[in-house]
Amino acid sequence: MSKEPLASQSSSHRDRRILITGGAGFIGSNFVHHWCKRYPNDRVVVLDALTYAGNLNNLAALQNQPQFRFVQGNICDAVLVQNLLQEEAIDTVAHFAAESHVDRSILNPGSFIQTNVVGTFTLLEAFRHHWQTDVAQVGRDRYRFLHVSTDEVYGSLAPEDPAFCETTPYAPNSPYSASKAGSDHLARAYFHTYGMPTLITNCSNNYGPYHFPEKLIPLMCINILLGKPLPVYGDGQNVRDWLYVGDHCSALDRVIHAGQPGETYNIGGNNEVKNIELVRLICQVMDERGPDLPVSPAENLITFVQDRPGHDRRYAINASKIQRELGWMPQVTVEQGLRHTIEWYLHNRDWWQPLLSEDYQRYYQQVYAAPEGLSQEYVVQR
Ligand code: NAD
Ligand code: DAU
Repeated sequence: MSKEPLASQSSSHRDRRILITGGAGFIGSNFVHHWCKRYPNDRVVVLDALTYAGNLNNLAALQNQPQFRFVQGNICDAVLVQNLLQEEAIDTVAHFAAESHVDRSILNPGSFIQTNVVGTFTLLEAFRHHWQTDVAQVGRDRYRFLHVSTDEVYGSLAPEDPAFCETTPYAPNSPYSASKAGSDHLARAYFHTYGMPTLITNCSNNYGPYHFPEKLIPLMCINILLGKPLPVYGDGQNVRDWLYVGDHCSALDRVIHAGQPGETYNIGGNNEVKNIELVRLICQVMDERGPDLPVSPAENLITFVQDRPGHDRRYAINASKIQRELGWMPQVTVEQGLRHTIEWYLHNRDWWQPLLSEDYQRYYQQVYAAPEGLSQEYVVQR
């Protein structure tokens, strides 16, 4: 739980009609659960294309709740989005839908441009028409468009550099972060050009339940349970600032209710850790908790593999603005969050096992299969 906001939630909240894009993905689904629990009188509509990363099982518990509706569809479909905004009289958008995995953006950048740039543009444009036609009736103050983005737009830090703040210049290094940077600029432009009430958040690495197996933490947990190698890129000294997904959801809630339109808020976990230290910690907790692990101690599975092309060395977030202005601070340490997450993966094999599909195995082969780490195809594309 986070601290109470400066203006308390009860006084600032009124019933909303919120569209959550990408709500069947990792952070999106955690956010949908957060919102439905916290605001049972709100209308919650999820729009999600159900790509490889989208999973209706993440939302199964909500399917029969009258406040909740799921729509399968693409954010690039302008007619669908426009109709949905009008039909559901949406006043708030929380935009999570994206291609989110850096390694996939190196293999296939086109889909990142399509969803992250064109999709965000389509959504902004549809919301602008909706907002402009509705605004005379219900008042400018009612609308919000939250664009959820990443710290990767700021590029890479050296060990001694100060953490990213909201005024750090953009310097994206991967097709993923470049596409997110493009979408951030569009969201910003819609505020400055049209006065549309957009808000942007840039957050660090999330982790927690419903995290797709391709990402570092679930990949390590699952590979330990399967007795497979734990591939650590490069020298393992890259640093990420780990943010528990529940903390992220409470920050986004605060930004929607109390953030200033046109502003950007950085959200971080205050948990900078080197990858190799994190992987060792996962191994240690797994050794304590894991039932009959195939390889023990799990650390024996650690394998250094060829580095990710353009691999950013360090991310760190200065989250003092959101703390000062909106009263939000992360509550979960990496040790606490990791233990909780590992328990979740231990108890939810039925959730992750079906995700290791043939498609996923093909992807995995491309990234990890070659004896020296990354496959030739991957290396050639550098
Ligand atoms: P995810 O990959 O788990 O989920 C993305 C969701 O978007 C999926 O449900 C997918 O089906 C859906 N989607 C993809 N393309 C779509 C399209 N064209 N139309 C409709 N739906 C589509 O991603 P995530 O990790 O939950 O990330 C959510 C958002 O947060 C993204 O915008 C990401 O850039 C941002 N973000 C993520 C992290 C992180 O650590 N995971 C950190 C910072 C920012
Ligand atoms: O910083 C926010 C970003 O965090 C989000 O915008 C992205 O959507 C999200 O995927 C995440 O990006 P990263 O590239 O940092 O996350 P990933 O889990 O892929 O990798 C975390 C670190 O671990 C990174 O330094 C690369 C390294 N890594 C990753 C994998 C998958 C390995 O060493 N081995 C691996 O097999």
